[in-house]
Parts: sequence; structure tokens; C-alpha cells
Amino acid sequence: MRFVPSSCLKPGMIIGKDLYGRNNELMLAAGRKLSKTEISRIRHLKIQGIYITDKLSEDIEVIDVIDSSLKNSAVRAIKNVFHTTKNGDFSKENFVDLKLVVDEIIDKLISSSEVIFNIMDLKVFDDYTYYHSVNVFIFSIIIGYSMKLSKDDLYNLGMGAILHDIGKVFVPRKILDKKGELTDEEFEIMKSHSEMGWNYLRNKWNISNDSIIAVLTHHEKCNGSGYPYSLKSEKIPEFGKIVAISDVYDALISDRPYRKAIQPSEAMEYVIGGAGLYFDPDIVSIFFKRIMPYPVGTTVKLSNGLKGIVAENNPNNGLRPRIKIISKQERDCYYIDLYDRSMLNVTIVESLAI
Ligand SMILES: [Fe+2]
Repeated sequence: MRFVPSSCLKPGMIIGKDLYGRNNELMLAAGRKLSKTEISRIRHLKIQGIYITDKLSEDIEVIDVIDSSLKNSAVRAIKNVFHTTKNGDFSKENFVDLKLVVDEIIDKLISSSEVIFNIMDLKVFDDYTYYHSVNVFIFSIIIGYSMKLSKDDLYNLGMGAILHDIGKVFVPRKILDKKGELTDEEFEIMKSHSEMGWNYLRNKWNISNDSIIAVLTHHEKCNGSGYPYSLKSEKIPEFGKIVAISDVYDALISDRPYRKAIQPSEAMEYVIGGAGLYFDPDIVSIFFKRIMPYPVGTTVKLSNGLKGIVAENNPNNGLRPRIKIISKQERDCYYIDLYDRSMLNVTIVESLAI
């Protein structure tokens, strides 16, 4: 199985995984051939791409710990929370929906035998904020799980992570979506979102103090250059540090109104480069081991000019996976392991759309 961006889908390709629509209805079932109309629909809905299966990738297995239906449920739940907050009718019901899906995803991760998690980013551009919130939540609990946090702590971390940007509901749309650089005044308003989120969630539906503190401190940086309080490393609560790394990484690999997404390896390098300066170095090292910039099924270009499909991730180094090198003839395809000493001079230069 491999992941094919929407722009590269062709009629007749075989769907590799069930695809769910916005309301979690089954849109396309695995095993069927894609039609021209379905491709137009996928593009119209601005879905980034889908998994397909073909001769080239039939021996590559993609295991989802969190399938797209469950991820969609989380996206719907947080979207409801944002909408009801904006309309002033956030109710216990919306909160319970969110709590249930947060619990379900944590249970799935805890009971998974996978040591590394294959999370293909499937954001829908129009709904960026909600997909981003869910990704930040998933990344944060993967980190928390690796830090051996208790289930209760994982839940509190998860709630803080999924709600980290709720304060943006109170920031005017024209500032949030501005294509150019923000003025100083606009930036001050934007920066107020972490405090506004914290203030809004205080004393609501038994959200724990640890969760709301994560919302308040997710833009603090270890050298004291963050906001709202310019806290230095030792004063920043652990959950805030975890959410900060997850937030920056996911934002960098996403298309935004003011810039294009950067390559996952560049985003990972940014996070590693910021260890000690912006981010807690111990949490960065866990992040690097557990979050795979090139999930299984990604097509990549290598520095030696060859192209391949990521076949297996390396738990010690996400930038050095095992790769199936693509040749014109299927029988000429072969595997290389970038973690192998002999491959040290070869790097992944980009993920490709083919
Ligand atoms: Fe934020």
C-alpha cells in the first residue's frame, strides 16, 4: 500500500483503505477501483490524498493504530466545541462527545503493540484548525505515553492538547487568516489566544487544572522568549512543553494561508535545532524517536536520485527508514535500509507526489 496525493490519483487505481467523509460516512471502500467522478470528489473536498494498493506497493503494509474514522470522530467533536463556543452555546453534551473520543484514542494507543506510530497526515485544508488540534493531541499523547504517564495524566494532557487553541475562537477571522505579516497590534491580539483559552475553560465541566495550564503555556519557550509570561524552562509545566513541540511540528508540515508546508524532515530538524533553546531537550529526543516524519507508504526521493516507498520505520531514527526502491520493472525493485552504515551518505530529500 502507498499514499498517493489527490493531484496524482488516476482512474482505475485500487483503493487501499476505507475513506470516510466529513460526517464519518463511508465514502470509498477499500478494494474498489477509483472512478473519475470519485477523484473529482476527493479533490473537491480538498482531501490531501488516499492510500492505494498496486503491484509496486502490495508488500508494504500500513498499520493504523488510529484509523481515519476514529480520527474523523475526533475532528468532528473538536469542531463542535469550537462552533458552540463561538455561538455561546457550548454544552455538557459537546464536552462529553469530546471526552469520549479522547478516551477512545488514548485506549487505542495504550493497547497497541506498535512501538512507533504511523501517522499519515490527512488534513483537509478548509478544516485546518480542527485537524491540527487532533494531530497535536495525538502527537502529545504519543510523547506522554513514551514518558510513561499514567492513564489519568494522559487524559489530562490529551484534553489540554486538543483544546490548546480554543482561544482562537475569540480572535477575529481577519487576523487568523491574514496572508501577509501581522502588524504589532494584530500580533498582540493573536498572542492573547492562549490566555483567552485558559480563561474560557477555567471551571468548565471538570476540566483539570493540568489541562488548562497546558492551554495557557503552549507558546512558552525554554529561553523565556515565549508568551504570555516569558517563562524559562524550569518554570514551564511539562504538559505545556509537550504541546508546544507537537504544535510547532504539525503547523510547519501544514499548508497555511501565509506559507506552504515544509518537508517533514525540515520540520523535524527545526524541532531538534530548537532543543534547549525553545523546546525541552528530553522531550525533543522522545519526539524524534516516536514521531515518524516519513510514515510507511510515503513516496520519497533520495539524494542519490533514486525514488522509493517507505516500507518500515526505524524506531531509533525516523529519518532513516527502510525503503523499497522503485524501478520501471517490478522485478527490479529492491530494498535498502538507510540506517545501514553503507547508506550513511544517502538522505531523503523530499516526499514525492507520484
Ligand atoms: Fe496556539
